[in-house]
Amino acid sequence: MSSYDLVVIGTGPGGYVCAIRASQLGLKVAVVEKRATFGGTCLNIGCIPSKALLHASHLFDEANHSFAQMGIVVDKPKLDHKAFLAFKDQAVDGNTKGVAFLMKKNKIDTYHGTASIPAAGKVDVAMADGTAQSLETKAIVIATGSDVAKLPGIEIDETRVVSSTGAIALEKVPGKLLVVGAGVIGLELGSVWRRLGAEVTVVEYLDRILPGMDLEVAKSFQRILEKQGIAFKLGTKVTGVDSSGKVLKVGVEPAAGGAAETLEADVVLVAIGRVPYTEGLGLEALGVETDKRGRVVTDHYYRTNVPGIFAIGDAIVGPMLAHKAEDEGVAIAELLAGQAGHVNYDVIPAVVYTSPEVASVGKTEEELKSAGIAYKVGKFPFLANGRAKANNETEGFVKFLADATTDKVLGAHIIGVEAGEMIHECAVLMEFGGSSEDLARTCHAHPTRSEAVKEAAMAVEKRAIHM
Ligand code: FAD
Ligand code: NAI
Repeated sequence: MSSYDLVVIGTGPGGYVCAIRASQLGLKVAVVEKRATFGGTCLNIGCIPSKALLHASHLFDEANHSFAQMGIVVDKPKLDHKAFLAFKDQAVDGNTKGVAFLMKKNKIDTYHGTASIPAAGKVDVAMADGTAQSLETKAIVIATGSDVAKLPGIEIDETRVVSSTGAIALEKVPGKLLVVGAGVIGLELGSVWRRLGAEVTVVEYLDRILPGMDLEVAKSFQRILEKQGIAFKLGTKVTGVDSSGKVLKVGVEPAAGGAAETLEADVVLVAIGRVPYTEGLGLEALGVETDKRGRVVTDHYYRTNVPGIFAIGDAIVGPMLAHKAEDEGVAIAELLAGQAGHVNYDVIPAVVYTSPEVASVGKTEEELKSAGIAYKVGKFPFLANGRAKANNETEGFVKFLADATTDKVLGAHIIGVEAGEMIHECAVLMEFGGSSEDLARTCHAHPTRSEAVKEAAMAVEKRAIHM
């Protein structure tokens, strides 16, 4: 029987990063992965393929609509659908192979198969080749991630009624795409197919899009998406999908009650969230505590209630984000090696990779209000930023929320081109407990969009220059 210091179950961003960090710190490490390739949801069917499709479809849209304004005359672009999907597959392949390389480089033993935990200190693997392996280990990290949340009564066939997994592999551009859920997946993948010509309607249960994001940002973003041609039906629930005919018939009704109606669609994308995935691990028999949403319960040190068993990533509480899982992977590896691993949950950026992007870190205005914290707002529009004007990409703004007494930055929100890159200077500022004045006095290169970040920080004390 092979024996290890650490066996990590799952090789998503949580699991594979944990394994690498633990190996760097001298632990003898193995990973178990039931998928044929490493990288988990993120690299195989999540972050990476969706970003490849967003990138390609954005350029298609630019060629279609923006080139002419800049004096670039090209024929109307045509989509080679097969090559479009192959571009995404190539991105997945390159990234998953990259993780396989890193496993080898860091001398991590890899087992392809499904893991279960018969007892603390033991992992059984039903290997993909039909054999079985039993591993002995001082510590087990559960990094088994999450799965698609299903809508009761609606069957996902991944061709016409799809989850994100089917939506990144549609064989043709749907005439009409109905998206259930105005969350991150719905808006990102809705954008991909809208840019390629689909008529997109998003049905959302709540009366707003992107719950959890700053409301002012979400409202502004909705208007931008509507201008792009995405239609929204907010405060509306889907009651069923009839797939007996050639066209899907989707029953919807107001969430608050009222007259039902039927919408037609060629494809329905169900994107109402994700649920933790711990099936088959044997947690119940082991007595590992889970909460009512199926998340493994841990303390601040990622310890479950069973000694020697730890959990991280989408399988535990917190935002279901790849970088959160990665940072937890590093933290638990360092803790197991006797170091002081730690994640600052107050400074986890979130990005929606649409066009323009939406990015945020820290508190929203709504959160500060409900916590009774007095705050100041500094805002600056890209319309007044030289670089954004030069590029004719002026949609959006930067918004800082700073403590009214101490000026410590509590939240930053950006909607605009490259927001997902610009948010990180705000994250670094917040990690160091910085004030809006700290950023306002930091020299920023001209002409850059980041100058709008600086100006928004200056606006907290009402001293923005270009506004
Ligand atoms: P996962 O990545 O889910 O990995 C878990 C792994 O464990 C899987 O490979 C699974 O096969 C394996 N496993 C499960 N059970 C067993 C078992 N018993 N034995 C062996 N192996 C097992 N997040 C972002 O931050 N940015 C994005 O842009 C982004 N885009 C996304 C787009 C889509 C369409 C989706 C669906 C998600 C996206 N996410 C994004 C979320 C991100 O993918 C997850 O937060 C992240 O993958 C979680 O990492 P993890 O390591 O916890 O789990
Ligand atoms: P989500 O939680 O972001 O959004 C789901 C939306 O569906 C919410 O607006 C919710 O109110 C709505 N909803 C729930 N039930 C509904 C119903 N019955 N009818 C209509 N609407 C309903 O979940 P999503 O978009 O599925 O994404 C899953 C996870 O993946 C998220 O936690 C997200 O963090 C992660 N992800 C992150 C990305 C990124 O960081 N760029 C990209 C894609 C996914």
